Amino acid sequence: MLLVAAGLLLIAGALAAAYQYHSARVERRHQLVTQANILAASVTAAIAFDDRAAAQEYVNALMLDPRLDAAAVYNEAHRQVAGFQRAGSEPIADSLAADGRAPHQRQLVEVPARQGATTVGRVYLRAADTPLMVQLTRYSGVALLTIMAVLMLAVLAVAQGVLTRANDALHRRATELADANERLNIEMAQRARTEEALRQSQKMEAIGQLSGGIAHDFNNLLMIIKSSLTLLQQKLLQGDPSADGTPASPPRERGSDDGREAREQRIRHYLDVAQDGIDRAASLTQRLLSFARQQPLSPRLLRLDVLVRDIRPLLEHSVGSGVEIDYRLDSHRPVLCDANQMENTILNLVVNARDAMPDGGRIVIGVDDLRIDADHPMEGLPDGDYVHLRVVDNGMGMSEEVRRKAFEPFFTTKPVGKGTGLGLSTIFGFIVQSRGLASIDSGPGRGTTIHIVLPHVPGEATPEVA
Ligand SMILES: Nc1ncnc2c1ncn2[C@@H]1O[C@H](COP(=O)(O)OP(=O)(O)OP(=O)(O)O)[C@@H](O)[C@H]1O
Ligand SMILES: [Mg+2]
Repeated sequence: MLLVAAGLLLIAGALAAAYQYHSARVERRHQLVTQANILAASVTAAIAFDDRAAAQEYVNALMLDPRLDAAAVYNEAHRQVAGFQRAGSEPIADSLAADGRAPHQRQLVEVPARQGATTVGRVYLRAADTPLMVQLTRYSGVALLTIMAVLMLAVLAVAQGVLTRANDALHRRATELADANERLNIEMAQRARTEEALRQSQKMEAIGQLSGGIAHDFNNLLMIIKSSLTLLQQKLLQGDPSADGTPASPPRERGSDDGREAREQRIRHYLDVAQDGIDRAASLTQRLLSFARQQPLSPRLLRLDVLVRDIRPLLEHSVGSGVEIDYRLDSHRPVLCDANQMENTILNLVVNARDAMPDGGRIVIGVDDLRIDADHPMEGLPDGDYVHLRVVDNGMGMSEEVRRKAFEPFFTTKPVGKGTGLGLSTIFGFIVQSRGLASIDSGPGRGTTIHIVLPHVPGEATPEVA
C-alpha cells in the first residue's frame, strides 16, 4: 500500500516536473518571438536601405541578452544583412533551407520584417541552451517536495513495520499469558486435590493415633484390673474351703488368725489396685470426653484473676522452688466457664511450663481485657469483649512440628510413664466448649506462651458453691 503511494507520488512529481519544463519552453519561445518582432520592427528601415551597419547595431544590442545564442537579419534576396553567433555555436545560415526558411526548431524563430504590406526581409533568433544550473534550480523545488514526501512515506512504512512487529509480539505474549494462566489453573486444581488428600491422610493419622492411644491405655488398665481380680480370686480360693468342695475348717487358733489377717490385707490391696485401675479408666474416659467437647460442664460466671489468686498455693507447690511465678492479673471482668476445669487448665499449663524448664526459670500468668473488632481481628472469634489469659515460660520452647501437634490427644514428647499427651488436648476441648480459643506461640529456645481467650459475659461473678 505504502509502496503504491510512493510510486504515485513519484509519478506526480515527474508529471509536475514535465509540466514545469513544458511551460518554461512555451514561455521562452514566446519571449523569443517577441524579441524577434521587436528586432524585425527595428531593422525594417535598415534592410530597406541596405544599411548593414545600422542593422548590425540592432543585432549587437541583442548580444547583451545571454539567453540568445545567435541572431541574423536577411533581406528579401536571402542575403544576410547582419548577424551574430556566440563562440562555438554554428551560424544561423547553416541551419536555414535553400529558400532561406528556417526549419521548425524549438529554439529557432523566424519573423518577417515588413514595411507596410511588403516583406522586406526576415529576422532569425536562436535561443541558447538553458544552463544546467538553471534547469536544476527550476526542478529542485519539485524534486525536493517529492523526495520529502517519499521520505515521509518511508518513515511511515518503517514505523508501520515496527508497530506490526510490536503488535505481533504483544499477541504472542498474550497467548503465552493465557497458556500460563491455564497451566496455573490446572496446577491449582491439582494442588487443591493433593491438599485434600493430605488432610484426609492427616485425619486418618490422628484417628489412628487417638484409637491407638485409647486402646493402649485402656488395655493397660484392664490388665491391671484383670490381674488384681485373678490374684484376688486365687487368694479367695486358697482361704475358702467351700471353694474346692471341702467342709468349712474348724475355728483356728492364734497363728491362723495372723494368717487370715495377712490374707485379708492382700485381698484389700488387690481390691485397691483394681479400684485404682477403674478410677484411672474413668478419668481417661473423662479426658476423652473433654477433648471431644462433650464433657458435662458446670459453667458459672467467674473472674479469672480471682480464680488464679485462689489457687496460687497449689500452683507454687506444683512448680517447686526452682521456678518463680509472676502474676499480672489486670482484668477484673467475669467469664462464663466451669471453675474446676479452669483450675485444672491453669495447673496443667503451669506444670507443662515447669517441665519445659528443668533448670528452673520464670513463669508469667497474665490476665487482661481484650477487645476484638475490625481493627484488631482474631481468626475464629466474633467481634466483642474478651478476657485473655496467658501462661508464659522461658523454657526450651517447641519445634514447629511439636507446636503443630501439641493440641492432639496422646501427643507427648515426654518419656513413657511421664506424660499422657492429654493435657493440652483436654484444655483445647474445654476452652472451645466454653466458646473461647486456645493457641500456642513458641519456638525452639525462645520459650512458650499459651494464650486462652474467653468471651467476657457481663454480670456479677458468682462465688464457688462449696
Ligand atoms: N510450655 C511448654 N514448653 C515446651 N513444650 C511444651 C509446653 N507445653 C507443652 N509442650 C509440648 O507439648 C506436648 C503435649 O503437651 P500435653 O500437656 O498435651 O502432654 P504432656 O505434658 O506431654 O503430658 P501430660 O500433660 O499428660 O502430662 C508436650 O509433651 C511437650 O512436648
Ligand atoms: Mg501436660
